[in-house]
Amino acid sequence: MTRADAHTPASSAPLPLFPDMSGKVAMVTGGSRGIGAATCLALARNGVRLVINGRDPVALQTSVAAVQAVGGEAIGLAADCSDLAQVQRMQAQVEAHFGAPDFVLAFAGGGTGRPVPVQDITEEDWRSSIDNNLTSTFFTLKCFLPGMLARGSGGILTMASAGARVASGAPAGYGAAKAGVIMLTRHLAQEAGPQGLRVNCISPSAVLTERTRATLSPERQARMQEGFPLGRLGTPEDVAAASLFLLSDASAWITGVVLDVAGGRVMV
Ligand SMILES: NC(=O)c1ccc[n+]([C@@H]2O[C@H](COP(=O)([O-])OP(=O)(O)OC[C@H]3O[C@@H](n4cnc5c(N)ncnc54)[C@H](OP(=O)(O)O)[C@@H]3O)[C@@H](O)[C@H]2O)c1
Repeated sequence: MTRADAHTPASSAPLPLFPDMSGKVAMVTGGSRGIGAATCLALARNGVRLVINGRDPVALQTSVAAVQAVGGEAIGLAADCSDLAQVQRMQAQVEAHFGAPDFVLAFAGGGTGRPVPVQDITEEDWRSSIDNNLTSTFFTLKCFLPGMLARGSGGILTMASAGARVASGAPAGYGAAKAGVIMLTRHLAQEAGPQGLRVNCISPSAVLTERTRATLSPERQARMQEGFPLGRLGTPEDVAAASLFLLSDASAWITGVVLDVAGGRVMV
């Protein structure tokens, strides 16, 4: 591979296709924007039928329309995944429409604000990081597991972050919440493997989405990418491609792993 190849963004690379995924059903929390929305598109192009979740109904409708525009099938369900009753309602709607999903991608979450010293983290910010990232993942898994276990096959993906792998620029509460997601993933992989479910975790470093582009100036992006052995920041399509691999039969003997989609920035 030449150096130029190494810089090729995944968005300009051909989309990986996994024929075994065609016709399956995926529930994607946080699928209304950013990484989740790009992953929904990649799944749709692989013939996967989608239930897309987010909180904002306008963003949700945009993501559903984007999937339909490429010939995919999608419905949108608005719910706050940090609220158990809302996730339970969503699970009942999904199962009434499609039955238990083949794949659950628990991607809802995100970081809030700039890092501050631990002693200065407010109770509100701490609880918000944990609720929005760790508790929302737990509620999603708790609600969708019974149906998937009853069927005895399927794949689950959770979403961590480089902030959970190394103490770097992320807020401590966010890093702690995402580290919790990693351990929850491992516990579930151990528990559910004998019952036919594979459970893996994606852990991206800096990915350029609409949200992160709005907060990182081009100069800051240029400075940041110097810290990445592969010489660039990530794209949502980089994460989508890794997600396809971990859900497809191409990774049939892989469970309980954390895949750092991080341009070489995280090596653990
Ligand atoms: N971008 C990065 O550099 C990066 C790096 C590492 C990890 N991650 C992780 O990747 C995931 C996606 O990040 P992103 O950068 O693509 O963020 P984004 O563009 O802000 O999208 C976040 C998505 O999650 C949804 N969401 C957030 N909290 C939710 C909740 N409580 N219930 C339901 N939906 C919720 C949002 O919907 P609404 O907008 O409607 O609330 C939206 O669809 C997050 O878990 C994030 O922590 C991102």
